[in-house]
Amino acid sequence: MDTRILGRQGLEVSAIGLGCMGMSDFYGHKRPEDVDATFLAAIEQGVTFWDTAEMYGPYTNEQLLGDRIKALGIDRKALTLATKFGVMRNNDGDWLGFDSSPEQIRKSCEGSLKRLQTDTIDLYYQHRVDPDVPIEDVVGTLTELVQEGKIRYIGLSEAGEDIIRRAHSVHPITALQSEYSLWSRDLDEHIIPTLNELGIGLVAYSPLGRGFLTGSIQSRSDLAKDDWRLTNPRFSEENFASNLVLVTAVKAMAEQKQCTPAQIALAWISSKGFVPIPGTRKPTRLRENAESQLLQLTPEDNDWLEQKIPTDQVKGERYA
Ligand SMILES: NC(=O)c1ccc[n+]([C@@H]2O[C@H](COP(=O)([O-])OP(=O)(O)OC[C@H]3O[C@@H](n4cnc5c(N)ncnc54)[C@H](OP(=O)(O)O)[C@@H]3O)[C@@H](O)[C@H]2O)c1
Repeated sequence: MDTRILGRQGLEVSAIGLGCMGMSDFYGHKRPEDVDATFLAAIEQGVTFWDTAEMYGPYTNEQLLGDRIKALGIDRKALTLATKFGVMRNNDGDWLGFDSSPEQIRKSCEGSLKRLQTDTIDLYYQHRVDPDVPIEDVVGTLTELVQEGKIRYIGLSEAGEDIIRRAHSVHPITALQSEYSLWSRDLDEHIIPTLNELGIGLVAYSPLGRGFLTGSIQSRSDLAKDDWRLTNPRFSEENFASNLVLVTAVKAMAEQKQCTPAQIALAWISSKGFVPIPGTRKPTRLRENAESQLLQLTPEDNDWLEQKIPTDQVKGERYA
């Protein structure tokens, strides 16, 4: 597995990460029977950049990582653990809004350290911008946590250009984690140039279009009744069929290159120097996703894909 440097502060991560969210939340059946094998496959493949958040579960996803890392005897030092704070849910999973107040950040950080059973969080992201707390205050608190050794690097998620600039002027921001994939290219125009200018890395979440770009979800009935994607506009009754047409291009290139659509979707991101964190609950898919590293897409390949998947033909917003 290749590595990538995120930001200019020295954080080196595996070029493909592992999104752990679906193991506890959002995507229906959690497949607890496959969790250990998936983590072990990640270690075997050198996929050591693992992504979680306080609100996944809530809390149970961090707890799962902490427990299984210990139980499987995985060397904590071999991992880069990234987690997030600031999106509040109660124990039943209901949304309570955003809270990035200094007191809450400290409380969240202590909780995450405990659940992850670690002394330090490698990369700590604000999960969503809190309109009630100036970003300078948020980064001020995070800077104190860096100084105290509780977190190593600071990240933001889904932040806009102005917030990124203001945050970075208080303390270097190492990475922005935002949705980026063949069907979510909103970052191209303003955000990516800003990240390049400031030397901030991009961690691409939902790089497989929440599974849609792999072609493995052919209809809404392929999703479990409690799968959050059934409420996502791009998976709606109205938009599903037209979006499926766009996947034809990914499949066609996969056939031509003798690989899988998931590998094309990930290689498109890697070829731009960004770090995708595909989520999976299955060791076979973990290996398949890691092997996307063997694929080199040329600028011509990327142009072809981008022309075949015009962003104005993607039906439905990213979130309701
Ligand atoms: N910062 C944020 O606000 C935010 C938001 C969403 C997600 N995230 C992070 O990003 C990570 C990844 O995003 P995501 O899970 O939403 O979406 P994703 O990685 O685009 O897609 C995950 C879906 O694709 C399926 N899948 C994975 N590999 C596959 C393959 N090779 N072939 C066919 N299907 C495959 C998975 O199913 P199986 O699990 O059954 O394999 C799952 O349903 C999350 O786990 C989370 O850590 C962050």
